[in-house]
Amino acid sequence: MPLLRAIPLAIAPFSKWLAATELSHVIQTTTWIIPTLQTIHILSIAVLFSSAVLVDLRIWRLFDRDLPLKDVARRFLPVIWPVLLILLTTGILLIIGEPRRSLQNSTFYLKMALLAAAILVTAILQWSLSADPHFWDKGQTRQIAGRLAATASILIWCGVIFAGRWIAYTEVG
Ligand code: HEM
Repeated sequence: MPLLRAIPLAIAPFSKWLAATELSHVIQTTTWIIPTLQTIHILSIAVLFSSAVLVDLRIWRLFDRDLPLKDVARRFLPVIWPVLLILLTTGILLIIGEPRRSLQNSTFYLKMALLAAAILVTAILQWSLSADPHFWDKGQTRQIAGRLAATASILIWCGVIFAGRWIAYTEVG
């Protein structure tokens, strides 16, 4: 994908500048900071992914099928937004610590594109259920659409996780 390759090149001067800042130097040279940020990032992924998947499995009627979908969604979906903020903060600090590793790596931008898609699907599920608790139960077409959205949600979140891990193994441009 040419766009995913063009962004790392365009951002190279910024990445170089960021790597020379005082904050980047502190993150790079203080041994406990990067492992701590990575641990918080990974724990947050566990919370976010399990919250999203439990709602997706309820849409498929494979989990908590005796509870109304709106109750399951109300319990788990709101958790996602504050956790995303933690992921954003730890992710930004990891970037500041090693800017070249992510900002000049096309896999990082693939991850961000997948993340935008995952956020969109999650927001659609949450908005539709808060507007109408029976939204995904009204007729067969809606039920199928709900299951498609739930499947897309699981696959896209898996894609974000895969791309996140993959950053370490792909070439820096
Ligand atoms: C919200 C914005 C986010 C930013 C800015 C961000 C940024 C980063 C950065 C810079 C790394 C380090 C990559 C490396 O050096 O190898 C990373 C790792 C990772 N991220 Fe994120 N991330 C974000 C959200 C997420 C989300 C939502 C997920 C998954 C649901 C995720 C999954 C991962 C995974 C699996 C790793 C690899 C962890 C490891 O092996 O240590 N990230 N992320």
